[in-house]
Amino acid sequence: MTHDALPTNERTEGSNTSSNPALSDMIEARLSRRSLLDNGFGAGAVAFLGGSVVATNAAPAVAQVFRDPTLGFSAIPTSQADALVVPQGYTADVLIPWGQPLFSDGPTWKRDASNTAAEQEQQIGMHHDGMHYFPLLAGPRGSTRGLLVLNHEYVDPILLYTDGATVMTQEKVNKALAAHGVTVIKIGLVDGKWQTMDSPYNRRITGNSPVAFSGPVSADHPMLRSELSLPPRGTLNNCAHGFTPWNTYLACEENWNGYFGTTNAGWRATPLEARYGVTTVGFGYNWHRVNPRFDLSQNRNEINRFGWVVEIDPFDSQSIPVKRTALGRIKHEGATYAEANGFAVIYTGDDENGDYFYKFVSAEPWRVMRAKGRSPLDEGVLYVAKFLADGTGEWLPLEFGRGPLTRANGWQDQADVLIRTRMAADALGATRLDRPEWCAVNPLTQNVYLTLTNGTGWGSPGGPNPRSPNPYGHILEVMPERGDHTATKMNWTVYLLAGDPAFDPAVRLNATNVFGSPDGIWIDPDGRFWIQTDISNSAQNRGNYLNIGNNQMLAADPTSSDLRRFMTGPRGCEITGVITTPDQQTMFVNIQHPGETSAAWGTPTPANPRVVSNWPDYDPAGRPRAATVAIRKVGGGRIGS
Ligand code: FEO
Ligand code: CA
Ligand code: CA
Ligand code: CA
Repeated sequence: MTHDALPTNERTEGSNTSSNPALSDMIEARLSRRSLLDNGFGAGAVAFLGGSVVATNAAPAVAQVFRDPTLGFSAIPTSQADALVVPQGYTADVLIPWGQPLFSDGPTWKRDASNTAAEQEQQIGMHHDGMHYFPLLAGPRGSTRGLLVLNHEYVDPILLYTDGATVMTQEKVNKALAAHGVTVIKIGLVDGKWQTMDSPYNRRITGNSPVAFSGPVSADHPMLRSELSLPPRGTLNNCAHGFTPWNTYLACEENWNGYFGTTNAGWRATPLEARYGVTTVGFGYNWHRVNPRFDLSQNRNEINRFGWVVEIDPFDSQSIPVKRTALGRIKHEGATYAEANGFAVIYTGDDENGDYFYKFVSAEPWRVMRAKGRSPLDEGVLYVAKFLADGTGEWLPLEFGRGPLTRANGWQDQADVLIRTRMAADALGATRLDRPEWCAVNPLTQNVYLTLTNGTGWGSPGGPNPRSPNPYGHILEVMPERGDHTATKMNWTVYLLAGDPAFDPAVRLNATNVFGSPDGIWIDPDGRFWIQTDISNSAQNRGNYLNIGNNQMLAADPTSSDLRRFMTGPRGCEITGVITTPDQQTMFVNIQHPGETSAAWGTPTPANPRVVSNWPDYDPAGRPRAATVAIRKVGGGRIGS
């Protein structure tokens, strides 16, 4: 296979061929709402993030201790350097790069990528993504000892193997499976530096780990039964994440369709497979050529075991990850927890060009359900968002027997609705969006912020996709009725347009904060927004992205007009995953796919994997490695303050 065909995790074409309206189609009536934008994120404008926060629901559901979200650092410039840069007064230390052994006596990482699959299983996975920090101690000491839990989204075959991806073998598939999944690792702050620690909690969950199914779709459902009699195993393409107040971690399965393929020329996609972008070649991994598990002809139902949210108990290393099917089967970007009246609510975007935004509401208050031994994520209602032209919106239930989801229309039961979530949402008339990525809930207002990373053209002015095409992306603000996440009504507005004003005069950003393709978003306990970017390596540092530089992370004070660039990454990477310790004195951030094939910097090869980047080791005989970095303020203090 050629380098042009090498796997990358981003696809721009959608697979939504429904005639559902894009926000775009509804616009003229909404032109007046542009004024919110214009009053909002101006370059240096006072109302920047603030205008819409002021306009939100009056009564937050939960009282919060509001600390000061003021930004206390100086914005750093854009960067094209092969370096990680943070503001003056901060340090950023590499904590767990790809390949570091999970235990101190584990297999040493080899810089020529000659570690075996068995060794990779005992090492940190590749391509770090969503991440959470679970304190291990109560009180202030919880900010010095904890479990870091993180996703490993996908692999770069040029970097993972000594000989690249041209020849695929069973051992290479096994190594890739071992580099995917989730890491749980104990870390501690010792003499001002974070380090990993041996612990019975340390574990890797991979593409081969045993998994269980729960909720309406059981593991023995006919659509999930393996033609090769293989048990359900593994989680793949774990992008963003979530966490629950009952101390579990949610790993989300995003671009899982890319791992499957077939050489059977007679194979044809069913409507269900076509709706999820399943093709004979996938994303070019070629696992199906040597492993029948991933062959769409020999083992057709294996793919239906993917597309779920996976719940993991990091405090029980023997626990089996559970695929919570009630949350639907889509390309889950993340799973963001919110709560209203004790009910557990999970917001989750389907990251595809023209796909939808969902939320799940538990059947009963989560404490009541858990007291009865039931999972709050197994019973409840899954909704999909419909955005109306007047700035209101509705959450439409995906429930068998309601609306069009009836037997007369070909729906069998709730399991069928969930396996075919996208098609059920099509039938309900959900609103197409410009690639829904992460979302975050502001604890001060209960407003929900959804990043829409970019789109090829659903939009029109005034709608939720206000540009068409939309190369830069934007952030949507969703205001639940009365601040109640269980409500089926909401209001919405476009919160922030990303992009370069040199190419798009509608953009109100400047040198201190120009950015594009928002992906990660998180709101810290002070109410400070953190926004991370994932500009594709086909666009980065070229054309209308020339002035934006390498991928970056920004911080925003939503009560003022302040948005500042806080971090720039090395070449080829995206910045993703962000969490602080409870005291906010350490922030953990992931640097994913440094050194990936890039239109601006070139194509790495097995002979020289350092063409684009050699971060973080800068070893002249090494290779770039995804890694978590730990950011601290010199002399202490809350990150961003
Ligand atoms: Fe894995 Fe949608 O980013
Ligand atoms: Ca992402
Ligand atoms: Ca990405
Ligand atoms: Ca992305």
